[in-house]
Formats: sequence, structure tokens, C-alpha cells
Amino acid sequence: MKHRLVIIKLGGSVITFKEKPLSANYKAINNISSILSKLEIPLIIVHGGGSYGHYWSVKFDMHTKLQKYPPHGISVVHSSMLKLNNIIIDTLVKYGLNPYGISPSSFLIDGQPSSNKILELKKMTKYNIIPVTYGDAVYVKNNKYSILSGDVLMTILSKILNPSKIIFALNVDGLYNNMKEKKIIKEIKFENVKTHKNKEIKFNLMNNTNIDDVTGGIKRKVEEATKIAETGKDVIFINGLDSTQIQNAIQDKNFKGTIFKGKV
Ligand code: IPE
Repeated sequence: MKHRLVIIKLGGSVITFKEKPLSANYKAINNISSILSKLEIPLIIVHGGGSYGHYWSVKFDMHTKLQKYPPHGISVVHSSMLKLNNIIIDTLVKYGLNPYGISPSSFLIDGQPSSNKILELKKMTKYNIIPVTYGDAVYVKNNKYSILSGDVLMTILSKILNPSKIIFALNVDGLYNNMKEKKIIKEIKFENVKTHKNKEIKFNLMNNTNIDDVTGGIKRKVEEATKIAETGKDVIFINGLDSTQIQNAIQDKNFKGTIFKGKV
């Protein structure tokens, strides 16, 4: 049987309350864990920072730019991500799953993805382990760090692991045509985005939040989806707060959301 791998990003706005510092959305994490426990698919989970990582990154003025940052800021951001990762791991365990938390630093060398290390994640999934990695403050070199978004991790993993399904779980139902009408775009073709034919696609679906998003919000997600789509793979955007949509998307059923069709 072909090894079907699903990679899903749980956005920070799904697993935390973005406007309330250091608050996990346990209900959402429980619902998602429960759904995943019924699916029995090889899976890699990536999660965002939400009101954990983003909260501290803003406080310490840390962002995606590679530079020297205050050591205490690096520690606190990383530590907050470990805490959030642990909440997710514990919940998945509670639902009988076998998650394994992995810091992105363990598969990056000088900030660049190590294919060999990343391929190991896929091997782990063959034996019923679910690697769970996350956006983080990562060491690159010469005492320089950067905030690596879980969205960028999605591109890195998708390019190397050739998953059968790539899903971004957001706190909205998909990508909107614009913020006034808020009509979900069902399908976006890579070719149309590249040629700017699809003018109605305005990716201004920034979440309503008071916390600055240091990694670029929805714009970053669409940028990464475009990079993934360029490799010929489809990318799915759904609402992670509606866990049935996660199930539908994974099981090839009709789902409410946006499919970003890969380059033909
Ligand atoms: C951010 O990861 C990680 C840190 C700020 C340390 P993401 O950029 O993937 O987080 P969300 O999903 O937007 O919250």
C-alpha cells in the first residue's frame, strides 16, 4: 500500500486564544485530537505560536529577520513554545495517539533544512508515531537566531516529504474573496495567482487580534501555499475550530474551505 502522509498545520489562532496571552484553547485541541484518533493515517503535525510564541516574540522584539537577539528573549520564546507543544502532546496522548514533540532546530543545520533528518520524520510515521513540530526561535549561526514560522515549516516539510495531503487549519472557513463580502473562495489555481488573473483574490484575511503577528499572518500562509503549489501539490485551508472539516479534508470527503490547486 502506498504510504499516504498527511501534514497538517494547526494555526496559533486555533490552538490558543490569540488575544489572551498564554492561553491555550483546550477545547479545540481536544476536539482535534479526538478526530485525529479516529482516522488512523500517517500524520505529521506542525503548530503555530499563537498567544504563546507570538506574545513573547513581540515583547522581546524578535522576528523572522536573522540577527542577534537578547538571549533571555530566545529562552522565553522557546520555552513558551515547548509549553504549548507539551499541551498538544499531552492531549494527543490522552486520546490514545502516539505524538513525539520535535524542535525544528533538530532538523535544521545552519538554519537550512537537513533532508536526511526530515526524512526520518516520515519514517517515524510508518511506525505509528506522529511527529509534532512547531514554529520556534531557531538558532542559525554566529549567535544569530530567527523566528521560524510553522507556515515556513510546512513548505520545508512538504517539499522534502511528498505528502499526499497538506492542510492549514485556520480560525476562519478558508480564504475570502475580500473582507467585505467574506465569500469563501472554493478553489484557487496556482497559475491564476502567478499571473495575477485572479484579481478578486485579496489575501487580506488578517485575524482580528490585538497582538502583532511577528511572522506575517494570513499573507505568510498564502505565500507558503503558493510555494508548495508550485511543486504541483494542492494545499487545503479549512477551519480548525470545526474539526469535522479536518476529518472531511483528510478523508477526501467534501469539505468547507479553500483548495489551492498545485501547478499542472
Ligand atoms: C510562530 O509560529 C512561532 C513563534 C512566534 C515562536 P507561527 O507563525 O506558525 O504561528 P501562528 O500559527 O501564526 O500563531
